[in-house]
Amino acid sequence: MKNSLRSHKWFYGANETGLLHKGALWSAGIDMDNYHGQPIIGIANTWSQLNNCNMSLKNVAEEVKKGIHEAGGIALEFPVISLGEELMKPSAMLYRNLLSIDVEENIRAYPIDGVILLGNCDKTVPGLLMGAVSANMPIIQLNAGPKEVGIHKGKRLGSGTDLWKYWDKLRVGEIDEKEWNDIGKALSCGFGACNTMGTASTMNGLLEALGLMPLGMSTLPVTSEKRKQLNIESGKRIVQMVHDQLTPDKILTIQAFSNAISTLLAIGGSTNAIIHLTAIAGRLSLPIFPNLFDELGRKVPCITNVQPNGALLIDEFNEAGGIPSVLNSISEFLHLDALTYTGLSLRNSLQSLEKIDIKDAILELKSPLKSTPTLAVLKGNLAPNGAVIKVSAASAELLTHKGKAVVFENYDHMLDTIDDDGLIVDKDSVLVLKNAGPVGVPGMPEWGMIPVPKKLKAQGVNDMVRISDSRMSGTSFGTVILHVAPEAAVGGVLAIVKNGDLISINVPNRSIELHVSPEEIDKRFKSIIPKEKIHKRGYPALYIKEVTQANKGCDFDFLIPKNESERIFVEPIVGRS
Ligand code: FES
Repeated sequence: MKNSLRSHKWFYGANETGLLHKGALWSAGIDMDNYHGQPIIGIANTWSQLNNCNMSLKNVAEEVKKGIHEAGGIALEFPVISLGEELMKPSAMLYRNLLSIDVEENIRAYPIDGVILLGNCDKTVPGLLMGAVSANMPIIQLNAGPKEVGIHKGKRLGSGTDLWKYWDKLRVGEIDEKEWNDIGKALSCGFGACNTMGTASTMNGLLEALGLMPLGMSTLPVTSEKRKQLNIESGKRIVQMVHDQLTPDKILTIQAFSNAISTLLAIGGSTNAIIHLTAIAGRLSLPIFPNLFDELGRKVPCITNVQPNGALLIDEFNEAGGIPSVLNSISEFLHLDALTYTGLSLRNSLQSLEKIDIKDAILELKSPLKSTPTLAVLKGNLAPNGAVIKVSAASAELLTHKGKAVVFENYDHMLDTIDDDGLIVDKDSVLVLKNAGPVGVPGMPEWGMIPVPKKLKAQGVNDMVRISDSRMSGTSFGTVILHVAPEAAVGGVLAIVKNGDLISINVPNRSIELHVSPEEIDKRFKSIIPKEKIHKRGYPALYIKEVTQANKGCDFDFLIPKNESERIFVEPIVGRS
C-alpha cells in the first residue's frame, strides 16, 4: 500500500525500479524483507580523521541508529564533507557552503524522510544546518561535546585563547621553544571541540536555543553517559517527527532566531555566529542582520564567565547548568512559546529539566560579567554595510578611539612586517588588514586578531584597535573590528586606506569612520590596478563568483531564496536512474 513518505516512492510497487532500490539496501545490510513503508532516517555524519574535533561522531551515529530502530525507523548513515578548523586551509569557512550543498543534495537525491545531523567543529555545525533547512525535512542536530581540559604547569588551558596568549609570550622571549611545544601537547588533549566559548561551543549552544538540539547536550563532555542516552532518545524522536511532519520552517521562526541571538549575547559567544545565523536565517528568507543583533545587543548582557570573555572553561559552564541555565536566567528576553524539535515549547522544555544551582561560570542577570554590550554592529564610511566588534572581549578604554592607520595590504604583508623594528607604529595606531575577506583570500580566514607588534608588546601594550574584512576565532579577544562590508577585494573603502589616515571608532555610537574626503577616496579608487584572479577553475572560482558579503552571511547568492517560489525544495523524478 502506498503511503505519504517520500522514501516510499523509491520502494513502492512490484516493478523493476522498486526491486532495484530494495536490492541496493539489501546489499547495504538493511532488512528490506520486512519493509512496510517505515520512515527512513538519514544520519549525515561529519566524522573524519581529518577533523579530530569530530572523531567521536562515529560512536554517536551507532547510538542514534539504536534509537531509530527501536522507534521502528530505518537508519541510513552517510558521510558529508568534514570541515576541520585546524587543518583545513585557507579556512574551513571556504567550504561551509559546500557542506550545505552536500547535505541538501544528499537529502534530495536519496530516499530520506528525516535527518539527524552530526557535527561538532565550528563550520560543520552551520554547514549541516543550512543544507537541511533548505531541504526542509524533519531534523535534529547533535554534537560530540568539548574535549578534556589540558594542564600546563598546574594551569588549566583554554583551547585557542591560551594558545594566543602563550604565542605572545614566545614572541617576546618569555617562554622558550620547549615550553611552547609542551603547551601544544597539553592543548591537543583528545577528541572533541574547543573547551572555551569558541565558535563550536557557541554554535552548538545556539542549536539548543533554536530548538534543534536536546537542552543541555552541547556542553556535556565527549565521554558523558548522558550523551549516549540523548543520542538514543534523539533517534527515537526523529521517527516521530517524520510522522508528525515537524519540519524546520515550523521551528526556525524569527522568534527562534531572536532567542538564539539573545543566547549568543548572554554567553559572550563567537562573532562567527553572527555570520552563520544570518546565513541560516537567509535560507528561510528571514532578515536578521543588522537590526535584530543591534536591537538585542543593546539589551542582553554577557552573563557567562568563560574564556575568552571571562576566566573559566566549558566544563565549569556545563557544571553550572550550561545553556538551559543561561536560558532560564535571560528568560525575560526570550520568546518562550517558540516550538522545539520535541514538539513542546521552549518554556515547557525548560520546565521539564532538573534545576541546577547556578555556579561561578554563569552570573545573575542583575550582575553581568561586563556592563558593556557583548557585540555591536558598527557602520560608517569605512563599513557602509556593517562591521562587528565583540565588545565583551575588548578593552573598555579603546571603545572610543581615533588613531593613525598602519596598513597591511594582505596577510603575508602583515606577517612579514608586524614585528619589524622599523614599523612606524605606537599604542594609539589603528592596525588595518586588507584583502582577508570572503572574496579576497578566498574564504575569510580568522586573521582579524592582528598580533600587537612585538616592540609594543615589549613595552607592555596588550591591546590595540584592529580593523579588517576578516573574521577571528571565537577563542580570540581584543579590540578587534571584523567583517567589514563590503570587503577590500570587492571595492570596499577599506581598499584605499593608507598609512597615516585617521580612523575613528565610537562603539557607544556604533560608528566607524575614515577621515578622508569623498573626493580623495574617489581619486584613490581610480588609481587602483585590478588584480588578476588567481582561482580560475574549480570550487574556489565558484565561491569567488557567488559568495555574498558578511552582512548576508557569506552564503552563495544562488542558495538564498529571493521569493517564496525559490524556497521550494524540488523533488527528483524517481524512476530508472
Ligand atoms: Fe574544532 Fe575548535 S578547532 S572545535
